Amino acid sequence: MFASIEFYAGDPILGLMDKYNADSRADKVNLGVGVYYDEAGKLPVLECVKTAEERIADPISPRPYLPMAGLPGHRKGCQELLFGKDAPVLQENRVATIATIGGSGALKVGAEFINKWFPHAKCYVSDPTWGNHIAIFEGSDVEVGKYPYYDNATSSVKFDEMLAFFKQLNKDDVVLLHPCCHNPTGMDLTQEQWDQVLTVVKERGLIAFMDIAYQGFGEDMDSDAYPIRKGVEMGLPMFVSNSYSKNLSLYGERVGGLSVVCPSEEEAARVFGQLNFTVRQIYSSPPTHGGRIVDIVMNDEQLHEQWVGEVYAMRDRIKAMRSKLKSVLEAKVPGRNFDYLTRQNGMFSFTGLTPEQVERLQSEFAIYMVSNSRMCVAGLNENNVDYVANAMAEVLAN
Ligand code: LMR
Repeated sequence: MFASIEFYAGDPILGLMDKYNADSRADKVNLGVGVYYDEAGKLPVLECVKTAEERIADPISPRPYLPMAGLPGHRKGCQELLFGKDAPVLQENRVATIATIGGSGALKVGAEFINKWFPHAKCYVSDPTWGNHIAIFEGSDVEVGKYPYYDNATSSVKFDEMLAFFKQLNKDDVVLLHPCCHNPTGMDLTQEQWDQVLTVVKERGLIAFMDIAYQGFGEDMDSDAYPIRKGVEMGLPMFVSNSYSKNLSLYGERVGGLSVVCPSEEEAARVFGQLNFTVRQIYSSPPTHGGRIVDIVMNDEQLHEQWVGEVYAMRDRIKAMRSKLKSVLEAKVPGRNFDYLTRQNGMFSFTGLTPEQVERLQSEFAIYMVSNSRMCVAGLNENNVDYVANAMAEVLAN
């Protein structure tokens, strides 16, 4: 019966995590999956989340079905974080937002919506992008193409090529954009470059799909949302998927959101209805626990402030690790430029190592990074950064 079922080779990122977990070497280092580990190499539980958990647990609460769109407080939390607390677009009720099962769930619901209502649209992703972007859109029968983004030779964005590419796309084609902390390269656009991109998106009638999974890890909560807010200001309709996996350190709770910015309240209401229907068709409604944490932290002024501070502390530790790795590498590998490490934002660094060098790091030094050379800098700490720098120097030299 199952003779024709094809073998699944596994996911390049999640599969790496399994391999790392199975590795018994004591000095192993996980720089693969996009997860923040603290200075002690542990996955943190944020203080604001602990407080929210205590409130949920006392008294132990019932678990009803949530609405298809999730908790109203979760949805409001997403909206205010993305668009700004007093954003006119929210007061005008022009944003249809649902709570989703992580950022991936938001992308999936968005991809299904696009396939149904814009059946001729192609979705263009950056070259390179997070591998699951392609898998999710293709999995919803949306044809996927790539736009030029990163130049390995100069470790920078191929901005002119990217813009020229957008200028020849067709109306209703989707461009998937990373507002901050580009995954996998860590290399972001400047605000001036965003202005130019959004102008072309508007002129060509393209659909901007902003995927923001690392808000707060780049510059700050507001600056990281610049492209989203600027697009709204320019009157662009837009999809925004957001994730709380990283900035609430709630990976396994699967909490995120999908927001669709519409030209009018009436359109937003219809879009909201269709998003609900899509959810019903796939998984009916989201789970309760993570949604309750989001609701509490996002809507309690004090907890929210505490949360922002905790995110910035994670951001700053990553930045410190970038500088440290850069200075050790500069000393060990003279003549090679490591400036890219501090020009990139967020958790990831595209190191430019070859797949063979990445493989050597894994087999000889138990250092795990993605074969495209993406390193999760958030896996570095004072105890392992020299070890990693030494190993990188070694594979670069021989
Ligand atoms: C990553 O890029 O490593 C994360 O977004 C985790 C994932 O699901 O791939």
